[in-house]
Amino acid sequence: MRFDILTLFPAMFDGPLTESIIKRACQAGLVTIDVHNIRDYATDRHRTTDDAPYGGGAGMVMKAEPLAAAIHAVIAARTATLPDATATQEPHVILLTPDGELFSQAVAQELARQPWLILVCGHYEGVDERIRETLITRAVSIGDYVLTGGELAAMVLTDAIARLVPGVLDAESIVEESHSDGLLEYPHYTRPAVWEQLNVPPILVSGHHGEVARWRRQQQLQRTLQRRPDMLATAAARGLLTPDDLAFLKTLGWSIDAKI
Ligand SMILES: C[S@@+](CC[C@H](N)C(=O)[O-])C[C@H]1O[C@@H](n2cnc3c(N)ncnc32)[C@H](O)[C@@H]1O
Repeated sequence: MRFDILTLFPAMFDGPLTESIIKRACQAGLVTIDVHNIRDYATDRHRTTDDAPYGGGAGMVMKAEPLAAAIHAVIAARTATLPDATATQEPHVILLTPDGELFSQAVAQELARQPWLILVCGHYEGVDERIRETLITRAVSIGDYVLTGGELAAMVLTDAIARLVPGVLDAESIVEESHSDGLLEYPHYTRPAVWEQLNVPPILVSGHHGEVARWRRQQQLQRTLQRRPDMLATAAARGLLTPDDLAFLKTLGWSIDAKI
């Protein structure tokens, strides 16, 4: 899978995407991440990429021309060099913006099925709206707060999506984790069995795989009820809860019809 990230601050990406699992995914050729400096596409003497907003007001706006040139150049370069199967597909051109669709595990899963994403990082007051009207295919927010720039948001998307690319992690760990099946994950423990007088739950050292699975599922349900009750109704509506799940939740006072 390919990520092309367009930014005014490429150095911000050194580190977060060049360590650990994402680094290994890149080394294994499962993921390619290229960061492009939008300023390289500015044509005036001062390499200007922003200007004052029409209508007045605070801050600066990222100019359309360098950004459009950067997007066109990346698409042209990649289309010429990528293998046929990828080249025939248009990339998703995603703008990171606080007024976009809220990023979630479901969106990450959907985007991980794409072969190629272009992520556009805004800065200052954001980008000229005409870029959004003409070149952006999707606008994504990582939460209801405002960052100084889209760079951290692009890193969040890249990390969350890249780890879902087949082969990057083992399949089991992705299936069972928080949000992947509409629930939060169960708690984890590792050696030593007793730490600071706290024991590992005995079921986990019992060797009964079926009982361990049942305990974990119940922990997922209990935690989700305690921490994110909103998720349970959604999981039920999506048919993700089994009759056993619903029976267990009933013992905790939750039922599909009655909100707690
Ligand atoms: C200071 S923000 C601009 C905020 C914009 N004036 C507004 O009120 O919606 C600068 C840039 O940071 C990025 N950004 C800020 N918050 C974000 C969020 N929650 N999710 C994704 N990108 C965000 C966007 O790329 C945005 O263009």
